[in-house]
Amino acid sequence: MQMQNQARFAKILLGVGASLYLTKSYFNGGKCTVHRDLQGQTVLITGGNRGIGKETALDLAKRGARVVIASRSYDTLDVVKEIVKKSGNSKVEFVQLDLNDLQSIRNFAEKFNCENHRLDILINNAGVYNTRFSKTKEGFESNFGINHLGHFLLTNLLLQKIVNTPQSRIVIVSSRAHTRSKTIDFDSLNQPTNSLIQELELYPQSKLANCLFATELVDKLKGTDTKVVSLHPGVIKSGIYQHNFSQLPFGRLIGLLLYPISLLCFKSEYYGAQTTLTCCYEDFNKLVNGGYYKDNQLYKQSPVSQDKELANKLWDYSLKAVKLENFKLY
Ligand SMILES: NC(=O)c1ccc[n+]([C@@H]2O[C@H](COP(=O)([O-])OP(=O)(O)OC[C@H]3O[C@@H](n4cnc5c(N)ncnc54)[C@H](OP(=O)(O)O)[C@@H]3O)[C@@H](O)[C@H]2O)c1
Repeated sequence: MQMQNQARFAKILLGVGASLYLTKSYFNGGKCTVHRDLQGQTVLITGGNRGIGKETALDLAKRGARVVIASRSYDTLDVVKEIVKKSGNSKVEFVQLDLNDLQSIRNFAEKFNCENHRLDILINNAGVYNTRFSKTKEGFESNFGINHLGHFLLTNLLLQKIVNTPQSRIVIVSSRAHTRSKTIDFDSLNQPTNSLIQELELYPQSKLANCLFATELVDKLKGTDTKVVSLHPGVIKSGIYQHNFSQLPFGRLIGLLLYPISLLCFKSEYYGAQTTLTCCYEDFNKLVNGGYYKDNQLYKQSPVSQDKELANKLWDYSLKAVKLENFKLY
């Protein structure tokens, strides 16, 4: 009888273990299975100093790329040392860039354009998830200003270099959260919010702007040898969520309650980087221009991200916002 109970207990334990393993594997979304030698190529990644950006930068360095990490903090120099050590690749650099400050982006682009002959891959990865209304240096709502406008300006200022590099790609890290936004509310974009509901819409709106930017950029780059993709990296246990919870009412409590779920259902930063890596390593001919990727594969686009009229309106709004109206694209 005791033996039977032990056998039953072992079976239950095995079943629970297998279910946990399968659930975790399901939510991890799999690994990037394509790899490319990136010797001689230059990759620029924003926010490569921590989170999924750091994991992405490490893998790119392992493939031999020259990796430029654009980040706002000089602490990134320690991250560069760590990546150089782990990858054995000494061509990893830090250049200071604050997406919260348009002048900082202009300074960065000027320096980068002077010093570099090519830009094979631009990864617009950095991001914030602010649920309390705040503004960037120039007075734009911070989610929209940092996640979209900062990258919009950066990409445009580097576009000539990207277009002149054969088979180049622009990889935009968006989020599935963009589907929670039905449009871009141009009239009240930078107006202080009145309620938590409005504040919770700020991040999705900025991520929708990422997707719409990709949609419009594909049109603008027609006839060039550059491809543009956007992606959802998954739900990841990274700094962005911790910061987000800390801003919410009862955020610490919610964070605590979600902790066991996050262990099982959130990706690690390593897995969070995999879809970005797939977009960087996928054979150029196979990479779908304008495609939206998730869990290492092409995924169906949301109708709102394909709204050409909205994408065009956002482009014009953004040009004015970052004062690029008279700018020759490439
Ligand atoms: N985590 C998720 O579940 C999830 C889900 C969907 C999409 N995403 C997207 O994935 C991307 C990476 O997020 P993550 O999860 O890796 O978050 P994270 O760990 O918080 O990393 C965010 C990165 O963005 C940088 N950054 C923030 N503000 C910046 C600024 N003003 N100028 C320059 N860099 C700035 C941060 O640099 P500092 O160290 O200087 O702050 C950091 O390197 C974001 O675009 C996010 O929207 C994440």
